[in-house]
Amino acid sequence: MRGKFITLEGIDGAGKSTHHAWLIDFLKRKGIDVVPTREPGGTPLGEKLRALVLSEPMHLETEALLMFAARKEHLDKLILPALASGKWVVSDRFTDASYAYQGGGRGLAEEKLRALEDWAQAGFRPDLTLVFDLPTEIALQRLAETGHRPDRFEQESQAFFERVRQTYLFRAHAEPGRIKILDSTESLHNIQKKLEGIILAYLF
Ligand code: TMP
Repeated sequence: MRGKFITLEGIDGAGKSTHHAWLIDFLKRKGIDVVPTREPGGTPLGEKLRALVLSEPMHLETEALLMFAARKEHLDKLILPALASGKWVVSDRFTDASYAYQGGGRGLAEEKLRALEDWAQAGFRPDLTLVFDLPTEIALQRLAETGHRPDRFEQESQAFFERVRQTYLFRAHAEPGRIKILDSTESLHNIQKKLEGIILAYLF
């Protein structure tokens, strides 16, 4: 049986990585063979492209094309073979991030993103997408507290992140069956309880 594909999304600083690790552990405890991965990245070439897009200034369309180039490689080398062999794949970001960041954040026309999505994915979509939502001022404060050097996206303004956030929320409202919003201001315990409920209700 084909495995399930789950993606995690949200603005930088929304706590996605913590929930990614917890979700992998939860699924393993349920006896599921699960592959953790991330975008941009997930393959040796994808990780090289990640290093470029997170550091090099570039044209917006170059940025979008590189995100989808890394994604094509990720689908071909890792995601689709894993799902075909019955494994579940949990990715820290996927195509909703391109709509939110390159589209909402930077203003790339949605039809260009849709054309890239149709080309690279041919109708393939996640089974479930979890959007971790947080007010931008709190997310930026959390990012600052980590003390690490901000990458090209993390250096963006609060207004940029507000557009990214609103795009995620808009997409979640447009596709309520696939995309679930989780309130990242809640305690870890409460968020984990909700995640557990969502996974059990929708995927088993
Ligand atoms: P991360 O910090 O969550 O690992 O993600 C790296 C950055 O890449 C994050 O700031 C969002 C950005 N990104 C895009 O702009 N478009 C995309 O399609 C993806 C997958 C990520």
